[in-house]
Amino acid sequence: MEVNFGLCFCLLVLLVPFTCAGRATISTTTGNGGNSGGSIQKLEVKKHLKNLNRPPVKSIKSPDGDIIDCVHVSHQPAFDHPELKDHKIQMRPNFHPERKTFGESKVSSNSNSNSKPITQLWQKNGMCSEGTIPIRRTRTNDILRASSVQNFGKKKQKSTPQPKPAKPLPDILTQSGHQHVIAYVEGGDFYGAKATINVWDPKIQQPNEFSLSQIWILAGAFGQDLNSIEAGWQVSPDLYGDNNTRLFTYWTSDAYQATGCYNLLCSGFIQINNGIALGASISPLSNYGSSQYDISILVWKDPKEGNWWMQFGNDHVLGYWPAPLFSYLTESASMIEWGGEVVNSESDGQHTSTQMGSGHFPDEGFGKASYFENIQVVDGDNKLRAPKDLGTYTEKDNCYNVKTGNAGDWGTYFYYGGPGRNPNCP
Ligand SMILES: *[C@@H]1O[C@H](CO)[C@@H](O)[C@H](O)[C@H]1NC(C)=O
Repeated sequence: MEVNFGLCFCLLVLLVPFTCAGRATISTTTGNGGNSGGSIQKLEVKKHLKNLNRPPVKSIKSPDGDIIDCVHVSHQPAFDHPELKDHKIQMRPNFHPERKTFGESKVSSNSNSNSKPITQLWQKNGMCSEGTIPIRRTRTNDILRASSVQNFGKKKQKSTPQPKPAKPLPDILTQSGHQHVIAYVEGGDFYGAKATINVWDPKIQQPNEFSLSQIWILAGAFGQDLNSIEAGWQVSPDLYGDNNTRLFTYWTSDAYQATGCYNLLCSGFIQINNGIALGASISPLSNYGSSQYDISILVWKDPKEGNWWMQFGNDHVLGYWPAPLFSYLTESASMIEWGGEVVNSESDGQHTSTQMGSGHFPDEGFGKASYFENIQVVDGDNKLRAPKDLGTYTEKDNCYNVKTGNAGDWGTYFYYGGPGRNPNCP
């Protein structure tokens, strides 16, 4: 790691010439003791890595090159959060919107026969024992790809405020350079959301772009203090260093400014599950015109403790966002969104060719287009229900599009996505 560091640092310097040019000059002048800028940077990165990577009970090398550390559940980063110093960890939720008593291992299955169960790649090479949780190890290069140590693991901030559309929509929908395809409900008190999302490997044109498909649980004003809980799958070369499709979570309590992060890349989310790693690659993926694979994500509020829980698949309760992390979400969510987002950096003056979902338009239907099915909200009675008055939103429907529907097994569903750049989206 130390040996590689010099090389990595130079790479950072090349990528960020304006902020680092001075340091580059100094740090390449070896032997005169003048590389203080580089040393500070090195120390900062080292300290951050130490914070994120906790001493493992054991480590598992994943076929995709990841290292998964099995860390004792009480040693995870969450407990560094100032609000969680005296937090008593909950090893199971008090309440589950799909189960009467929590002891049952299986929910009455509503899985459809069209798709197959899904796993994570690292599980091929081992597992973490009870009492530990799998954490994807962060490496020096991961941090060096970020614009700063502080920004690592956070959604990028755009400094230019965007004009609001006629109908007020959250800032995340108008963030410059981001394209969304979203189905949403608003105006109610929501206590959770669910969806089954099929999983693809969209092509990413530029390393600084990403493509993701997720649920958003939102509350508060869409200004400075937006509270958001997010979960889904993403391809993000910047965050992970490759084009793999990965399970992720995100949270913020101040509109993506100082608080929150992806996965376990800051203190906050408390994981209890020993089988699923946040940020780890999902496998297998759907194939165009052939096998389809999907994941289910359920997020709900525990009415007793106020914590927001997350379940992956039918029986992996992953963990929870403790109530003290939030302001508005300590009550309820005011908006739920389901859909896709890509970054359109227009680096060559044209629309990005980064794909959303399968990279195919909704018209192509099952097996070809990407979908969310059985989208549901948790209502005021803590029951899962189909959303009422589902709205949709796209910025440029010639680039990425959405088509909603309703059908027996699939409940409320939509197909979404697209190829990005094409003759109608130059
Ligand atoms: C990711 O995919 C793009 C093209 O889709 C390719 O240019 C790039 O090299 C890939 N990145 C990595 C880290 O594999």
